[in-house]
Amino acid sequence: MDASFFDRPIERRGTASFKWDLYGGDVLPLWVADMDFAAPPPVVEALEACVAHGVFGYALAPDSLTEAIAAHLEARYGWRVEPEWVAWLPGVVTGLNLACDAFAAAGEGVMTVTPVYPPFLEAPGQRGRRLVTVPATVKDGRWELPLQEMEATVTSDTRVLFFCHPHNPLGRVWRRHEVDAVLDFCRRHDLVLVSDEIHCDLVLDDLHHVPSALAGPDAADRIVTFMSPSKTFNLPGLNFAFAIVADEALRRRFLRPAEGLLPFPGCFAIAAAETAYRRGEDWHAALLAYLRANRDALERFVAERLPRVGMTHVEATYLAWLDVSGLGLDDPAAACRSAGVALSPGGEFGDPAYLRLNFGCPRATLDEALRRLSAVLA
Ligand SMILES: Cc1ncc(COP(=O)(O)O)c(C=O)c1O
Repeated sequence: MDASFFDRPIERRGTASFKWDLYGGDVLPLWVADMDFAAPPPVVEALEACVAHGVFGYALAPDSLTEAIAAHLEARYGWRVEPEWVAWLPGVVTGLNLACDAFAAAGEGVMTVTPVYPPFLEAPGQRGRRLVTVPATVKDGRWELPLQEMEATVTSDTRVLFFCHPHNPLGRVWRRHEVDAVLDFCRRHDLVLVSDEIHCDLVLDDLHHVPSALAGPDAADRIVTFMSPSKTFNLPGLNFAFAIVADEALRRRFLRPAEGLLPFPGCFAIAAAETAYRRGEDWHAALLAYLRANRDALERFVAERLPRVGMTHVEATYLAWLDVSGLGLDDPAAACRSAGVALSPGGEFGDPAYLRLNFGCPRATLDEALRRLSAVLA
Protein backbone atom coordinates (compact mmCIF):
# COMPACT_ATOMS: atom_id res chain seq x y z
CA MET A 1 0.00 0.00 0.00
CA ASP A 2 1.40 3.40 -0.96
CA ALA A 3 0.33 7.01 -1.46
CA SER A 4 -1.29 6.27 -4.83
CA PHE A 5 -4.16 4.54 -2.99
CA PHE A 6 -4.97 7.78 -1.18
CA ASP A 7 -4.30 10.01 -4.21
CA ARG A 8 -7.14 8.32 -6.10
CA PRO A 9 -10.06 10.75 -6.44
CA ILE A 10 -13.39 9.13 -5.52
CA GLU A 11 -16.59 10.95 -6.43
CA ARG A 12 -18.67 11.25 -3.25
CA ARG A 13 -21.31 13.70 -4.48
CA GLY A 14 -24.72 12.06 -4.71
CA THR A 15 -23.81 9.25 -2.26
CA ALA A 16 -25.85 10.65 0.65
CA SER A 17 -22.59 12.06 2.00
CA PHE A 18 -23.08 14.64 4.74
CA LYS A 19 -19.74 16.18 3.88
CA TRP A 20 -20.18 16.38 0.10
CA ASP A 21 -23.93 16.72 -0.36
CA LEU A 22 -24.78 19.43 2.17
CA TYR A 23 -23.40 22.30 0.14
CA GLY A 24 -23.39 20.74 -3.34
CA GLY A 25 -22.19 22.74 -6.34
CA ASP A 26 -18.49 23.32 -6.73
CA VAL A 27 -17.73 23.63 -3.02
CA LEU A 28 -14.81 21.50 -1.80
CA PRO A 29 -15.87 20.24 1.62
CA LEU A 30 -13.01 20.23 4.11
CA TRP A 31 -15.30 20.27 7.10
CA VAL A 32 -17.05 17.25 8.70
CA ALA A 33 -14.55 14.75 10.10
CA ASP A 34 -14.53 11.87 7.68
CA MET A 35 -11.89 11.22 5.04
CA ASP A 36 -12.30 11.00 1.26
CA PHE A 37 -10.41 7.70 1.14
CA ALA A 38 -11.73 4.20 0.51
CA ALA A 39 -11.61 1.92 3.55
CA PRO A 40 -8.88 -0.73 3.78
CA PRO A 41 -9.37 -3.26 0.92
CA PRO A 42 -9.83 -6.23 3.32
CA VAL A 43 -12.68 -4.30 4.96
CA VAL A 44 -14.35 -3.68 1.62
CA GLU A 45 -13.98 -7.41 0.81
CA ALA A 46 -15.52 -8.37 4.16
CA LEU A 47 -18.47 -6.08 3.48
CA GLU A 48 -18.82 -7.48 -0.05
CA ALA A 49 -18.99 -10.96 1.46
CA CYS A 50 -21.80 -9.79 3.78
CA VAL A 51 -23.70 -8.34 0.84
CA ALA A 52 -23.21 -11.49 -1.22
CA HIS A 53 -24.60 -13.57 1.64
CA GLY A 54 -27.81 -11.60 1.23
CA VAL A 55 -29.39 -12.32 4.63
CA PHE A 56 -29.37 -9.28 6.90
CA GLY A 57 -30.76 -10.67 10.12
CA TYR A 58 -30.14 -9.56 13.70
CA ALA A 59 -26.48 -9.70 14.52
CA LEU A 60 -24.60 -10.97 17.55
CA ALA A 61 -21.21 -9.35 18.08
CA PRO A 62 -18.89 -12.37 18.29
CA ASP A 63 -16.18 -12.81 20.93
CA SER A 64 -13.68 -12.58 18.09
CA LEU A 65 -14.58 -8.88 17.64
CA THR A 66 -13.80 -8.09 21.27
CA GLU A 67 -10.61 -10.14 20.97
CA ALA A 68 -9.58 -8.15 17.88
CA ILE A 69 -10.14 -4.87 19.73
CA ALA A 70 -8.22 -6.11 22.77
CA ALA A 71 -5.33 -7.31 20.59
CA HIS A 72 -5.21 -3.91 18.86
CA LEU A 73 -5.15 -2.02 22.17
CA GLU A 74 -2.50 -4.25 23.66
CA ALA A 75 -0.27 -4.10 20.57
CA ARG A 76 -0.52 -0.33 20.09
CA TYR A 77 -0.79 0.95 23.64
CA GLY A 78 0.16 -1.92 25.93
CA TRP A 79 -3.33 -1.68 27.42
CA ARG A 80 -4.83 -5.06 28.41
CA VAL A 81 -8.59 -4.86 28.15
CA GLU A 82 -10.86 -7.64 29.43
CA PRO A 83 -13.81 -8.57 27.18
CA GLU A 84 -16.43 -7.71 29.80
CA TRP A 85 -15.16 -4.11 30.01
CA VAL A 86 -16.39 -3.39 26.47
CA ALA A 87 -19.89 -2.00 25.79
CA TRP A 88 -21.10 -1.39 22.23
CA LEU A 89 -22.42 1.99 21.21
CA PRO A 90 -23.90 3.27 17.95
CA GLY A 91 -21.52 6.21 18.24
CA VAL A 92 -19.35 8.12 20.65
CA VAL A 93 -21.80 11.02 20.66
CA THR A 94 -24.41 8.65 22.10
CA GLY A 95 -21.86 7.79 24.78
CA LEU A 96 -21.27 11.45 25.65
CA ASN A 97 -25.00 11.97 26.12
CA LEU A 98 -25.37 8.77 28.16
CA ALA A 99 -22.49 9.84 30.40
CA CYS A 100 -24.33 13.08 31.21
CA ASP A 101 -27.46 11.13 32.19
CA ALA A 102 -25.49 8.52 34.11
CA PHE A 103 -23.05 10.59 36.11
CA ALA A 104 -24.64 14.01 36.68
CA ALA A 105 -28.09 14.84 38.00
CA ALA A 106 -30.27 17.50 36.41
CA GLY A 107 -28.55 20.87 36.67
CA GLU A 108 -25.20 19.46 37.76
CA GLY A 109 -22.01 20.37 35.96
CA VAL A 110 -20.15 18.70 33.09
CA MET A 111 -16.81 20.36 32.46
CA THR A 112 -14.84 20.50 29.24
CA VAL A 113 -11.90 22.39 27.76
CA THR A 114 -12.70 24.55 24.75
CA PRO A 115 -12.50 24.75 21.81
CA VAL A 116 -13.79 21.24 21.39
CA TYR A 117 -15.79 18.90 19.17
CA PRO A 118 -19.30 20.44 19.27
CA PRO A 119 -21.21 17.50 20.87
CA PHE A 120 -19.05 17.98 23.99
CA LEU A 121 -20.69 21.40 24.28
CA GLU A 122 -24.16 20.26 23.27
CA ALA A 123 -24.63 17.03 25.23
CA PRO A 124 -24.84 18.52 28.74
CA GLY A 125 -27.59 20.98 27.77
CA GLN A 126 -29.42 18.32 25.73
CA ARG A 127 -29.55 16.17 28.88
CA GLY A 128 -30.53 19.04 31.21
CA ARG A 129 -27.06 19.23 32.74
CA ARG A 130 -24.95 22.38 33.12
CA LEU A 131 -22.07 22.91 30.72
CA VAL A 132 -18.91 24.26 32.36
CA THR A 133 -16.26 25.39 29.88
CA VAL A 134 -12.65 26.38 30.41
CA PRO A 135 -10.65 27.75 27.47
CA ALA A 136 -7.37 26.06 26.54
CA THR A 137 -4.32 28.29 26.58
CA VAL A 138 -1.49 28.71 24.07
CA LYS A 139 2.06 28.76 25.37
CA ASP A 140 5.04 29.10 23.05
CA GLY A 141 2.86 28.28 20.07
CA ARG A 142 1.41 25.14 21.66
CA TRP A 143 -2.05 24.49 23.06
CA GLU A 144 -2.09 23.48 26.71
CA LEU A 145 -4.63 22.27 29.23
CA PRO A 146 -5.78 25.19 31.43
CA LEU A 147 -5.23 23.28 34.67
CA GLN A 148 -5.18 26.34 36.93
CA GLU A 149 -8.32 27.75 35.39
CA MET A 150 -10.01 24.34 35.73
CA GLU A 151 -9.21 24.44 39.46
CA ALA A 152 -10.66 27.93 39.70
CA THR A 153 -13.81 27.03 37.79
CA VAL A 154 -14.79 23.61 39.14
CA THR A 155 -17.70 23.66 41.58
CA SER A 156 -18.84 21.18 44.20
CA ASP A 157 -21.68 20.10 41.92
CA THR A 158 -19.46 19.41 38.89
CA ARG A 159 -19.59 15.66 38.30
CA VAL A 160 -17.94 14.89 34.97
CA LEU A 161 -14.93 15.97 32.92
CA PHE A 162 -15.18 15.42 29.16
CA PHE A 163 -11.60 14.94 27.96
CA CYS A 164 -10.82 14.94 24.24
CA HIS A 165 -7.68 12.82 23.95
CA PRO A 166 -6.10 13.37 21.41
CA HIS A 167 -7.80 16.70 21.01
CA ASN A 168 -10.15 17.73 18.23
CA PRO A 169 -9.69 20.49 17.04
CA LEU A 170 -6.40 21.41 18.75
CA GLY A 171 -4.50 18.42 17.34
CA ARG A 172 -2.69 17.84 20.64
CA VAL A 173 -1.51 14.44 21.86
CA TRP A 174 -1.71 14.86 25.62
CA ARG A 175 1.51 13.65 27.19
CA ARG A 176 1.71 11.30 30.13
CA HIS A 177 2.22 14.14 32.65
CA GLU A 178 -0.83 15.97 31.25
CA VAL A 179 -2.99 12.85 31.49
CA ASP A 180 -1.72 12.36 35.05
CA ALA A 181 -2.67 15.96 35.89
CA VAL A 182 -6.16 15.43 34.50
CA LEU A 183 -6.55 12.23 36.53
CA ASP A 184 -5.34 13.99 39.64
CA PHE A 185 -7.85 16.80 39.03
CA CYS A 186 -10.68 14.28 38.67
CA ARG A 187 -9.68 12.41 41.82
CA ARG A 188 -9.47 15.55 43.92
CA HIS A 189 -12.85 16.86 42.73
CA ASP A 190 -14.51 13.46 42.58
CA LEU A 191 -15.28 13.68 38.85
CA VAL A 192 -15.93 10.90 36.39
CA LEU A 193 -13.37 11.20 33.59
CA VAL A 194 -15.00 10.62 30.22
CA SER A 195 -12.01 10.12 27.95
CA ASP A 196 -12.93 10.34 24.27
CA GLU A 197 -10.04 8.59 22.54
CA ILE A 198 -11.64 8.22 19.11
CA HIS A 199 -8.62 9.89 17.44
CA CYS A 200 -5.98 7.86 19.33
CA ASP A 201 -4.82 5.84 16.31
CA LEU A 202 -4.20 9.03 14.31
CA VAL A 203 -1.02 10.25 15.98
CA LEU A 204 1.12 11.79 13.21
CA ASP A 205 4.27 12.65 15.14
CA ASP A 206 6.68 10.31 16.86
CA LEU A 207 4.62 10.42 20.03
CA HIS A 208 2.66 7.90 22.04
CA HIS A 209 -0.98 8.09 22.93
CA VAL A 210 -1.39 7.15 26.60
CA PRO A 211 -4.92 5.88 27.28
CA SER A 212 -6.32 7.58 30.39
CA ALA A 213 -7.28 4.23 31.85
CA LEU A 214 -3.74 2.92 31.38
CA ALA A 215 -2.30 6.00 33.08
CA GLY A 216 -4.69 5.66 36.01
CA PRO A 217 -5.41 1.99 36.74
CA ASP A 218 -6.09 2.93 40.37
CA ALA A 219 -8.79 5.35 39.13
CA ALA A 220 -10.70 2.67 37.17
CA ASP A 221 -13.84 3.45 39.18
CA ARG A 222 -14.00 6.91 37.59
CA ILE A 223 -12.84 6.40 33.97
CA VAL A 224 -15.01 5.77 30.92
CA THR A 225 -13.11 5.54 27.62
CA PHE A 226 -14.68 5.89 24.19
CA MET A 227 -13.08 4.48 21.07
CA SER A 228 -14.11 3.43 17.59
CA PRO A 229 -12.56 2.17 14.36
CA SER A 230 -14.53 4.93 12.62
CA LYS A 231 -11.86 7.65 12.50
CA THR A 232 -8.90 5.27 12.18
CA PHE A 233 -10.25 3.27 9.25
CA ASN A 234 -12.73 5.82 7.87
CA LEU A 235 -15.91 3.88 8.73
CA PRO A 236 -18.11 6.47 10.48
CA GLY A 237 -21.11 5.72 8.24
CA LEU A 238 -21.34 2.27 9.84
CA ASN A 239 -22.38 3.74 13.22
CA PHE A 240 -20.19 1.69 15.49
CA ALA A 241 -18.20 2.62 18.59
CA PHE A 242 -17.57 1.24 22.04
CA ALA A 243 -17.01 2.24 25.62
CA ILE A 244 -14.38 0.59 27.79
CA VAL A 245 -15.18 0.69 31.49
CA ALA A 246 -13.03 -1.54 33.69
CA ASP A 247 -14.99 -1.03 36.90
CA GLU A 248 -18.16 -3.09 36.95
CA ALA A 249 -20.18 -0.70 39.13
CA LEU A 250 -19.23 2.28 36.97
CA ARG A 251 -20.07 0.31 33.83
CA ARG A 252 -23.50 -0.54 35.22
CA ARG A 253 -24.08 3.11 36.15
CA PHE A 254 -23.05 4.20 32.66
CA LEU A 255 -25.34 1.73 30.90
CA ARG A 256 -28.40 2.11 33.12
CA PRO A 257 -29.88 5.14 31.29
CA ALA A 258 -29.28 3.30 28.00
CA GLU A 259 -31.53 0.35 28.83
CA GLY A 260 -33.93 -0.24 25.97
CA LEU A 261 -32.45 2.52 23.86
CA LEU A 262 -29.31 1.20 22.21
CA PRO A 263 -29.43 -0.88 19.04
CA PHE A 264 -27.03 -3.82 18.80
CA PRO A 265 -24.25 -3.32 16.26
CA GLY A 266 -25.35 -4.39 12.79
CA CYS A 267 -23.80 -7.10 10.66
CA PHE A 268 -21.90 -4.63 8.45
CA ALA A 269 -20.36 -2.80 11.40
CA ILE A 270 -19.29 -6.04 13.03
CA ALA A 271 -17.66 -7.40 9.88
CA ALA A 272 -15.94 -4.11 9.09
CA ALA A 273 -14.68 -3.45 12.61
CA GLU A 274 -13.21 -6.88 13.17
CA THR A 275 -11.56 -6.96 9.75
CA ALA A 276 -10.16 -3.45 10.18
CA TYR A 277 -8.54 -4.28 13.51
CA ARG A 278 -7.22 -7.63 12.27
CA ARG A 279 -6.16 -6.77 8.73
CA GLY A 280 -6.05 -2.97 8.42
CA GLU A 281 -2.50 -2.45 9.65
CA ASP A 282 -0.78 -1.84 6.26
CA TRP A 283 -3.50 0.56 5.18
CA HIS A 284 -3.31 2.34 8.53
CA ALA A 285 0.47 2.81 8.32
CA ALA A 286 0.16 4.15 4.78
CA LEU A 287 -2.68 6.45 5.87
CA LEU A 288 -0.57 7.97 8.63
CA ALA A 289 2.27 8.64 6.17
CA TYR A 290 -0.18 10.28 3.76
CA LEU A 291 -1.82 12.42 6.43
CA ARG A 292 1.60 13.47 7.71
CA ALA A 293 2.56 14.68 4.23
CA ASN A 294 -0.75 16.55 3.89
CA ARG A 295 -0.25 18.11 7.29
CA ASP A 296 3.28 19.21 6.40
CA ALA A 297 2.10 20.69 3.09
CA LEU A 298 -0.69 22.55 4.86
CA GLU A 299 1.65 23.90 7.53
CA ARG A 300 4.08 25.09 4.84
CA PHE A 301 1.30 26.70 2.81
CA VAL A 302 -0.08 28.56 5.81
CA ALA A 303 3.37 29.75 6.88
CA GLU A 304 4.41 30.86 3.41
CA ARG A 305 1.21 31.96 1.71
CA LEU A 306 -1.28 32.85 4.45
CA PRO A 307 0.81 34.99 6.80
CA ARG A 308 -2.22 36.41 8.57
CA VAL A 309 -3.57 32.95 9.46
CA GLY A 310 -2.30 31.27 12.62
CA MET A 311 -1.86 27.51 12.80
CA THR A 312 -0.34 25.44 15.57
CA HIS A 313 1.38 22.15 14.83
CA VAL A 314 -1.04 19.22 14.43
CA GLU A 315 0.34 16.25 16.38
CA ALA A 316 -2.69 14.02 15.79
CA THR A 317 -5.96 13.89 13.82
CA TYR A 318 -6.50 15.13 10.26
CA LEU A 319 -7.90 18.40 11.50
CA ALA A 320 -6.21 21.81 11.64
CA TRP A 321 -7.39 24.72 13.77
CA LEU A 322 -6.81 27.98 11.95
CA ASP A 323 -6.76 31.35 13.68
CA VAL A 324 -8.35 33.80 11.23
CA SER A 325 -8.90 36.61 13.73
CA GLY A 326 -6.27 38.74 11.97
CA LEU A 327 -8.34 38.95 8.78
CA GLY A 328 -11.27 40.98 10.11
CA LEU A 329 -13.87 38.81 8.35
CA ASP A 330 -17.46 39.01 9.67
CA ASP A 331 -18.22 35.41 8.85
CA PRO A 332 -14.99 33.59 7.93
CA ALA A 333 -16.70 30.27 7.07
CA ALA A 334 -19.14 32.02 4.70
CA ALA A 335 -16.26 33.89 3.05
CA CYS A 336 -14.45 30.57 2.46
CA ARG A 337 -17.60 28.95 1.09
CA SER A 338 -18.04 31.79 -1.36
CA ALA A 339 -14.47 31.05 -2.50
CA GLY A 340 -15.49 27.40 -3.00
CA VAL A 341 -14.30 25.69 0.19
CA ALA A 342 -16.41 24.60 3.16
CA LEU A 343 -14.56 24.69 6.49
CA SER A 344 -16.11 24.22 9.94
CA PRO A 345 -16.95 27.51 11.66
CA GLY A 346 -14.94 27.84 14.87
CA GLY A 347 -17.96 29.17 16.75
CA GLU A 348 -19.42 25.65 16.80
CA PHE A 349 -16.35 24.56 18.79
CA GLY A 350 -16.43 27.55 21.11
CA ASP A 351 -14.30 30.17 19.31
CA PRO A 352 -15.63 32.10 16.29
CA ALA A 353 -12.16 33.53 15.54
CA TYR A 354 -11.15 30.14 14.11
CA LEU A 355 -11.91 27.74 11.29
CA ARG A 356 -11.32 23.99 11.30
CA LEU A 357 -9.86 22.42 8.17
CA ASN A 358 -10.03 18.68 7.45
CA PHE A 359 -7.00 17.53 5.46
CA GLY A 360 -8.13 13.89 5.20
CA CYS A 361 -8.42 14.08 1.42
CA PRO A 362 -6.30 13.44 -1.68
CA ARG A 363 -3.44 15.87 -1.96
CA ALA A 364 -4.86 17.30 -5.18
CA THR A 365 -8.08 18.22 -3.35
CA LEU A 366 -6.11 19.86 -0.56
CA ASP A 367 -3.96 21.81 -3.03
CA GLU A 368 -7.01 23.04 -4.95
CA ALA A 369 -8.78 24.02 -1.72
CA LEU A 370 -5.71 25.95 -0.55
CA ARG A 371 -5.48 27.70 -3.91
CA ARG A 372 -9.11 28.79 -3.53
CA LEU A 373 -8.67 29.76 0.11
CA SER A 374 -5.77 32.08 -0.66
CA ALA A 375 -8.30 34.38 -2.32
CA VAL A 376 -9.93 35.07 1.06
CA LEU A 377 -7.29 34.17 3.65
CA ALA A 378 -4.05 35.53 2.11
C1 LIG B 1 -13.65 13.82 19.46
C2 LIG B 1 -14.75 13.16 18.68
N1 LIG B 1 -15.61 12.35 19.32
C3 LIG B 1 -16.61 11.74 18.65
C4 LIG B 1 -16.78 11.92 17.29
C5 LIG B 1 -17.92 11.25 16.58
O1 LIG B 1 -18.15 10.01 17.07
P1 LIG B 1 -19.36 9.13 16.54
O2 LIG B 1 -19.46 9.34 15.07
O3 LIG B 1 -18.94 7.75 16.91
O4 LIG B 1 -20.57 9.58 17.29
C6 LIG B 1 -15.91 12.75 16.61
C7 LIG B 1 -16.11 13.00 15.17
O5 LIG B 1 -15.57 13.89 14.59
C8 LIG B 1 -14.87 13.38 17.31
O6 LIG B 1 -14.01 14.18 16.70
